Amino acid sequence: MSHSAWSSNVKFENGQLTIAGTTASELAREFDTPTFILDEDDFKARASAFVNAMQKSFSGATVYYASKAFTCKQIARWCNELGLGMDVATGGELEVALSVNFPASRIEVHGNNKSLSEIDRAVEVGVGCIVIDSIQEIGRVADAAKRHGKTQSVMIRLNPGVEAHTIEAIATAHTDVKFGLSISSGVAWDAVIEISKHSQLDFRGVHAHIGSQIFNMDGHRLTIERMLDFMARYRDEFNRELPEVDFGGGFGIVYTAEDAPLAIEDAVAQIKDAVVNGCAARNLKIPHVAIEPGRSIIGPSMFTLYEVGTTKLVQLENGTRNYISVDGGMSDNIRPGLYGAIYEAHLANRTSSAPNTPSRLVGKHCETGDILIRDIDLPSDIAPGDLIAIPATGAYNRSMASNYNHVPRPPVISVRQGSAKVIVRRETFEDLLHLDA
Ligand SMILES: Cc1ncc(COP(=O)(O)O)c(C=O)c1O
Repeated sequence: MSHSAWSSNVKFENGQLTIAGTTASELAREFDTPTFILDEDDFKARASAFVNAMQKSFSGATVYYASKAFTCKQIARWCNELGLGMDVATGGELEVALSVNFPASRIEVHGNNKSLSEIDRAVEVGVGCIVIDSIQEIGRVADAAKRHGKTQSVMIRLNPGVEAHTIEAIATAHTDVKFGLSISSGVAWDAVIEISKHSQLDFRGVHAHIGSQIFNMDGHRLTIERMLDFMARYRDEFNRELPEVDFGGGFGIVYTAEDAPLAIEDAVAQIKDAVVNGCAARNLKIPHVAIEPGRSIIGPSMFTLYEVGTTKLVQLENGTRNYISVDGGMSDNIRPGLYGAIYEAHLANRTSSAPNTPSRLVGKHCETGDILIRDIDLPSDIAPGDLIAIPATGAYNRSMASNYNHVPRPPVISVRQGSAKVIVRRETFEDLLHLDA
């Protein structure tokens, strides 16, 4: 079965890519390229599907949107309207949410090295939960709570020692990583003891996030088992049940036809099965359950639109390769360079009857590794002025974008029912120069 990497309102009509009734050519004319195009209804449908599936499975469940995948004010407003919480991993992500009055009580704060000022700000504004990721952090959060005269809810990020089936760079819960507190080494339990010494901290439960772009739930299921064991130990030793558990994100999406992710409802059903059976086996009450999807909400909802600037047919020992250079590159999509992520690309402004030829889609930066797609067959007549669209660039693309070569970062344009609006404007040279003394 082949899977589509496009969001639900993208169609190809007479060779023209259209999204919710607007053509790629119209979008390029109005907003220029490179540009991220967001399918608003698709984003909302994915976010709501997670909320509905979780609330059907667990009473009062929370879906935190993982801001790191991509955030901006409009995303935070939509998350608020749709009843999601927000997971933030830095002071900057926190400020985005606060800037649109996202309720602090529905914000969960992550980070393996939260600064003192980030902790202070989080406590001051009353975030719902801070997820402890080191022993040192416990005293820092307690001090901030004391300063502000508050009790702060905390969870512990556990490292359950589970190998997620994904790229190493985005697996987060095997033994040799910087995230979380290891259950097996005993340091997670040390954190429990340390938290119990601080009356300003309300220990709510445990968290784990095992990695990203995961297609099968075996890793999550094993993680749930280990987390429930930990919670049962806590009940036995402290004579109190932890009321909350958070299983992180990590649900995979389609980047190419090879990718076969689970439907949102199926992934949640597996979590439910593991939690219900696991709690029954340990005689635990079903806790308040949360998850933190990022990629699987925003990833498929965006594509990147580029214009071709040059083409170059390079002679190889055994054939040729057409280098197609577009007007963005590693500054708007670092994932292929960072960890070999694979994308597909399509001609977006016309049909072509020319035969496909081995091609490499590259950017405009001064790096040989500035490659968006290493090997792709594309029509041999692709020429300057053509538009190329790469699907599924919503997650960890704009949010990881850089100004390498002093390239202004692209805008994000949201499209819905034939109308398009800027939700993040294009950076200008002035923006870039603004920072210089
Ligand atoms: C703690 C935590 N939660 C949630 C996520 C979101 O993961 P994904 O985008 O794969 O759903 C991440 C991603 O790195 C994370 O570190």
